[in-house]
Amino acid sequence: MNWTASDIPPQEGRRAVITGANSGIGFHAALELARHGAEIVLPARSEAKAEDAIRRIRAEVPQAKLTPALLDLSSRRSVRRFVETIDDRFPGGSIDVLINNAGVMALPRRELTEDGFERQFATNFLGPFALTALLFPRLKPASGTRIVTLASLIVHQGRIDFDNLQSERKYVSLYGAYAQSKLADLIFALELQRRLSRAGSPIASLAAHPGIAVTNLMAHFTGLYKLLGRFLTPVIAQSAERGALPGLFAATAPEAAAGGYYGPNGAGERKGFPAPARLPAAAADEALASRLWDTAERLTKTRFDVVG
Ligand SMILES: NC(=O)c1ccc[n+]([C@@H]2O[C@H](COP(=O)([O-])OP(=O)(O)OC[C@H]3O[C@@H](n4cnc5c(N)ncnc54)[C@H](OP(=O)(O)O)[C@@H]3O)[C@@H](O)[C@H]2O)c1
Repeated sequence: MNWTASDIPPQEGRRAVITGANSGIGFHAALELARHGAEIVLPARSEAKAEDAIRRIRAEVPQAKLTPALLDLSSRRSVRRFVETIDDRFPGGSIDVLINNAGVMALPRRELTEDGFERQFATNFLGPFALTALLFPRLKPASGTRIVTLASLIVHQGRIDFDNLQSERKYVSLYGAYAQSKLADLIFALELQRRLSRAGSPIASLAAHPGIAVTNLMAHFTGLYKLLGRFLTPVIAQSAERGALPGLFAATAPEAAAGGYYGPNGAGERKGFPAPARLPAAAADEALASRLWDTAERLTKTRFDVVG
């Protein structure tokens, strides 16, 4: 049977933090979780973007419990400030779901963040790693608590190149820097589950990818990619609403397994309903995962000890 948003179990009493919820897949994830009763924390890069998303969700779910916040994942300082906001707003901490959804793709030129990192690697991987590490003590240590990280079909083209992690030797925007950052997300999500299991934690880490979905993600495409995107997207892609389903499945479905990876069930995993997704070989490389974890801790200056 095809799993849809109407299969989301009741979410009353649950609190979810969803990054990038002002646009695309994250917005639809927030809307559906709110529709099912969850309280949503929506961090965005500006107050106006967070408030606009809240307005659009309230138009469909007037009773939704929504908290705006500020977060720029490319900035170590901003990630820490966001976690302070969470502590101020929700003392004691009690987060049931964290969806690491925000991302940026295909920047035409190599850009550095204020911390000196390549922007796609910083936004898509280092920021979510630090955010997850800092929020971890604020997650409910209970079965049902889930951390979901968004990967991508492009993980199959990705390679973690420790000699070119910041694209300092060579910058290839889509199949280089972006693919590496999304593969890092997947490796992180699976390694996190290994560490949670070893620590005996009831919290689960899962990964998901949306297939190809019509969102703002392709806004940075130029030249041939832009042209191809314009003509091919309507044929090969699905709606953002549908693209949100694998992440929602990972975040809520009782049948989603800890350490699972979910994507659409159609041809090439481009469209369809949530189902187990194909993993690249690198996802099983535990030595690579450990090295990436240590590297992320060092670069973000954030220690991430997974405790039970
Ligand atoms: N769409 C697809 O076909 C596809 C395929 C594979 C994977 N994905 C993944 O799905 C996730 C969601 O993407 P989407 O397709 O929904 O794209 P989107 O519509 O462009 O949404 C991306 C979200 O990430 C936010 N974001 C970007 N940079 C940020 C930063 N520095 N700090 C905080 N938030 C930031 C954006 O905020 P602003 O509005 O401020 O830019 C936006 O809310 C991403 O992880 C992406 O890699 C998408």
